[in-house]
Amino acid sequence: MSEESEGELEARLPEGESFEPPESFVEQANVTDESIYEEFAENWPDCWERAADMLDWEEPYDQVLDDGDAPFYEWFVDGKLNASYNCLDRHVEAGRGDEVAIEWVGEPTDETRTYTYDELLDEVQEFAAALRDLGVEEDDVVTMYMPMIPELPVAMLACARIGAPHSVVFAGFSADALATRMNSADSEYLVTCDGYYRRGDPLDHKDKADEGLGGVDHGVETVVVDRLGDELEHDLDDDQHDYDDLIGDHAGAEVEPVTRDAEDMLFLMYTSGTTGKPKGVKHTTGGYLSYVSWTSHAVLDIKPEDTYWCSADIGWITGHSYIVYGPLALGTSTVMYEGTPDYPDKDRLWEIVDDYDVTQLYTAPTAIRAFMKWGKEYPDQHDLSSLRLLGTVGEPINPRAWKWYYKHIGDESCPVVDTWWQTETGGMMITTLPGVGEMKPGSAGPPLPGISANVVDMNGDEVEPGEAGYLTVDKPWPGMLRTLYQNDERFIEEYWQEYSDEDADEWVYFPEDGAKIDDDGYITVLGRVDDVINVSGHRLGTMEVESAIVGVEGVAEAAVVGGDHDLKGEAVYAYVITEDGYEGDDDLRERIIEGVEDAIGPIARPEEVIFSPELPKTRSGKIMRRLLEDIANGDELGNTSTLRNPDIVDDIAGKVGED
Ligand code: WT7
Repeated sequence: MSEESEGELEARLPEGESFEPPESFVEQANVTDESIYEEFAENWPDCWERAADMLDWEEPYDQVLDDGDAPFYEWFVDGKLNASYNCLDRHVEAGRGDEVAIEWVGEPTDETRTYTYDELLDEVQEFAAALRDLGVEEDDVVTMYMPMIPELPVAMLACARIGAPHSVVFAGFSADALATRMNSADSEYLVTCDGYYRRGDPLDHKDKADEGLGGVDHGVETVVVDRLGDELEHDLDDDQHDYDDLIGDHAGAEVEPVTRDAEDMLFLMYTSGTTGKPKGVKHTTGGYLSYVSWTSHAVLDIKPEDTYWCSADIGWITGHSYIVYGPLALGTSTVMYEGTPDYPDKDRLWEIVDDYDVTQLYTAPTAIRAFMKWGKEYPDQHDLSSLRLLGTVGEPINPRAWKWYYKHIGDESCPVVDTWWQTETGGMMITTLPGVGEMKPGSAGPPLPGISANVVDMNGDEVEPGEAGYLTVDKPWPGMLRTLYQNDERFIEEYWQEYSDEDADEWVYFPEDGAKIDDDGYITVLGRVDDVINVSGHRLGTMEVESAIVGVEGVAEAAVVGGDHDLKGEAVYAYVITEDGYEGDDDLRERIIEGVEDAIGPIARPEEVIFSPELPKTRSGKIMRRLLEDIANGDELGNTSTLRNPDIVDDIAGKVGED
């Protein structure tokens, strides 16, 4: 059978197909007993002691959950611990200091670095001492604006060691985005680098960081990592310090891990929401670290002797939880890759799996769709038999891509965990347990033990199996966000208002995703139901993109929607009305694209800019986004009779695909 006809057949397979966990996997899995679901349900919330037990506590907690001030829940109350101690010292103390903590693979194929736990602990202490010398005190927010280089996890763990929360800003974000986040967090410290490689070329990063610093409304001490050596020279201002000099000055330093309260902030992570202003999601030391350790153990099946690889960027929550904190807390070897999957060739990932004998691979549907498109000859060139488990995260995965991954990467002998979660949830929430549950391609699976998720209608009543509804979570969990940084009010509005009964003190978390559930309780997540689009597994607020576009000279109004995209999942479609005197021409289109890249970053780059004399609006003046989505997708258009200006629709539809 040819690849095409096989693909077509797979695409037409009926829903409801399922796969048992491979026997070879079950035999060695961390969690194999189905009774864990019942056990957690019966012992809730005390079941979560099992997660807390994965850590070393300086002082034990008095109470597992305090729900007295819901939804401001507190977990492992009065427990004391340090995250850096748990990720480093305890493994060294256990005599495992010479085992590998981080395998770093640079984009240039000849550049790699290995950090043992001893080495990582040394550098973390040296950098922690340096940060203190620069003035960083407990609870000061330190921002990192760095690509995938080892100094990023070093800096994160150094912050954790001295009790300074970090706020990592994805290196692909723009200077403006950096400034907004530093201002919002009153962050007076920045760790960045000179540049990094992209497809063989050195890319300047410091210029962008400097430009961002220009927009910060307070003084900042900056540390600059010299990633590119002689390839790129930069001058440092008085308040800018060279990373290597600082490490040299503090060689051999010992910095005691500070005692942190379980509820003390470990980090902030900004994410997009419905409004233009990014939300500062606050995660804590005890609950978050317990939760990511537990899920790394139960779902990713991580063991200390593994070489585990999550191909996400540490600039997103996936990298925080499942490159840095979860894997290191469990004392395994975590792979970090600087480059892209298709450089120098489309087999780069498979080459790395082969070279390092990677045991688990955790990636995103957008990457899997690209692998599929490139063809199985790339993985086929390499020995992937070291793999034991595959994972995916970030957006719904279609059954066809799931099966391709299962077959051509996992050789039908690795379970595939499709993990649903969010920046806000801290860790995985809905997925099969790989050693327990059968897998259904396209469906994430049941909620994890101890997680209470439902699919409900607009009134909060559970929908029938098979019907589309809204995903809700009606019990708290240790990894949950505690609030939005300095904005308790928005925290309630964004996540709790929709389905909670405040008077009855019943709190329901609303992740703003649509979903359906089947007879076995398996949940298929259908995607966002708010004005957030998911481009290659990354969340973008349509309002953020719109405000970038209306900031461009000559633009009067803009509406942004997500349209289907073969590789990215969704792509940005921008409908733009020009100001009088301006033409919707190539020049303006260019300036709009530039404006979006400057305000947010290349990930937000519009796929299409459609100039239109008007936008479809209801009689009350609301833009009909659903219609714009249908137009972007070339779908049949729904009812347009409620529009104030129905004639405009055909006009706009005719313009899509023009440029
Ligand atoms: C949104 C969260 C969690 C780390 C990566 C993204 C979508 C995530 C899945 C999945 C279907 C998924 C949801 C969610 N999403 N995983 N397995 N199946 N959808 O984190 O940027 O906070 O985005 O990603 O829509 O709400 P994020």
